[in-house]
Amino acid sequence: MEFSGNKFKPSSVRSVSDAPVLSVERGDQSVDQLDVSDESCADFNHNELRVPRHVAIIMDGNGRWAKKRGLPRLAGHNAGMKAMIEATRAASDWGIRYLTVYAFSTENWKRSKEEVGGIFKLLIKYVESELRELNRNNVKVNVIGDYEKIPKAALLKLEETIETTRNNTGLNLNIALNYGSRAEIIRGIRSLVQKVLKEVDIPEAHEHSLKNNHDVYLKIQERLEEIITEDSFSRELYTGDELGNIPDPDLIIRTSGEERLSNFLLWQAAYSEFAFTPVMWPEFTREEFRHILKDYSGRDRRFGGR
Ligand code: IPE
Ligand code: IPE
Ligand code: MG
Repeated sequence: MEFSGNKFKPSSVRSVSDAPVLSVERGDQSVDQLDVSDESCADFNHNELRVPRHVAIIMDGNGRWAKKRGLPRLAGHNAGMKAMIEATRAASDWGIRYLTVYAFSTENWKRSKEEVGGIFKLLIKYVESELRELNRNNVKVNVIGDYEKIPKAALLKLEETIETTRNNTGLNLNIALNYGSRAEIIRGIRSLVQKVLKEVDIPEAHEHSLKNNHDVYLKIQERLEEIITEDSFSRELYTGDELGNIPDPDLIIRTSGEERLSNFLLWQAAYSEFAFTPVMWPEFTREEFRHILKDYSGRDRRFGGR
């Protein structure tokens, strides 16, 4: 899956006509043509690339990568963190607006205490060592998931990072931690149902009559349809109002050869493109990322229309 072609000339020697045209997706299908002449994009060696607005990655294969090398699983997670940093750098350089990385699922608590604890320790270590660079690159960090339940030290470090980067306007890096799409959906449903119930005046038991029951039923029915819509539901998700309503992922990448979502962004993935690569996450390079983006650029997204 190697990408071949001429290497880009550095911007200092590149003439205007040599400059690549990067298309950054903005609306559902609208595309902005950007003339990219800064060196950060120098590793694009083709003329037309559609840069998705939102890329989501299921970073899988850390354990198998380590096992193949006779290393402990945590060595795989350590190498995986480095790959995450490299992918963030690339996404930021290429003008991707949102990068959502699946770092820990609601099901990952089933793993050994040692592995779970180790993952969060590594997260603290890398967030700490990378914070300055993230900030320098104008990256805004956020977390999605029921992340208040993660170990306290990791929670504090992440809250500090979110706070430090909150005014940044570059890449939005969303780290999914204790994230599960089913839990996210149930949480959204509960919240909307609460809104319906708040608006409907349910009479006291002693006032109950058949007529009353019927009126209440009709009222609930009416408010359900008005309050629970695709749009209002989307806004209840972690990716909704809380994060300024981030667009659905244009592209979901999963490494390690597995071809499943494993409870990731089930609702948001309705019209996402998928890219599966056999590469284990610690070996996921900028080159591989670029190769996937090139493939994505050639896809015809129809959203049901023609
Ligand atoms: C992904 O790698 C990282 C997390 C789920 C935390 P895995 O740890 O799932 O690696 P494999 O799938 O066992 O190889
Ligand atoms: C999905 O990977 C979760 C993350 C990458 C954080 P898993 O390794 O947990 O998924 P399964 O168990 O193979 O489906
Ligand atoms: Mg796995």
